[in-house]
Amino acid sequence: MVTIVIDGRKVKAKENSTILENTQELNIDIPTLCFHNDLSSFGACRLCMVEVNTNGKWQLATSCNTPVEDGMEIRTDSDRVQESRKLTAELLYYKYPTTEAVREVARKLGVQTPEEKGEGHDCILCGLCVRTCREIVGVSALTFQDRGRGRDIDEPKIEFDPNSCIGCGSCAYVCPTGYVQMESVGDKRIIWNKVFNMVACKVCGRFFAPEDQLKYISKETNVPFDKLTTCTNCR
Ligand code: SF4
Ligand code: FES
Repeated sequence: MVTIVIDGRKVKAKENSTILENTQELNIDIPTLCFHNDLSSFGACRLCMVEVNTNGKWQLATSCNTPVEDGMEIRTDSDRVQESRKLTAELLYYKYPTTEAVREVARKLGVQTPEEKGEGHDCILCGLCVRTCREIVGVSALTFQDRGRGRDIDEPKIEFDPNSCIGCGSCAYVCPTGYVQMESVGDKRIIWNKVFNMVACKVCGRFFAPEDQLKYISKETNVPFDKLTTCTNCR
């Protein structure tokens, strides 16, 4: 354990934990868009800024991916922190004025968000879908195109690999903006423009999972495919 000081309060923190993990323990509200507790941190949205005292100098840092160090002092609510978060929210709102997740966070940070016509579902390149696919599903059907140099958050740059995708829909569930659209109708599911055949539960007959997903689970777990064709409600 290490000792850190958050907003003047001395607390014990796990070694290698992030600032955000520790502020969450204290129920300190820090805005985030690209963070998920079950995924690695990415530091893309820059909304989770805090101030950290490093060698006597206060510097801004993203709380979601900055590990704590013994003796570290952190400010979560200084004027500088508030200004930084508001500026980031303004920039995001300027780029994605109709995307509700962005509007909501901008409003919370005091940005005026007049009503806009239309419904935006922009990709803000938060990377949640990419990390979910890789870290939770274990498939890596989504990657960042042109990662690093030349990366431009004006345009969606998520690359979809139809050969790897199993149609599980995890990316659609985790996407904060609704950019990933998934439609399941009858025995078909469409996601990222790929059509998947759905399997009907052998007990109740409800189409409950894509065939490719069950085949993938079968391969990974060595459980025969026909043992997986009962939905969770009927198991
Ligand atoms: S598609 Fe959605 S989850 Fe994926 S990077 Fe874009 S906004 Fe984030
Ligand atoms: S939540 Fe930390 S940079 Fe997005």
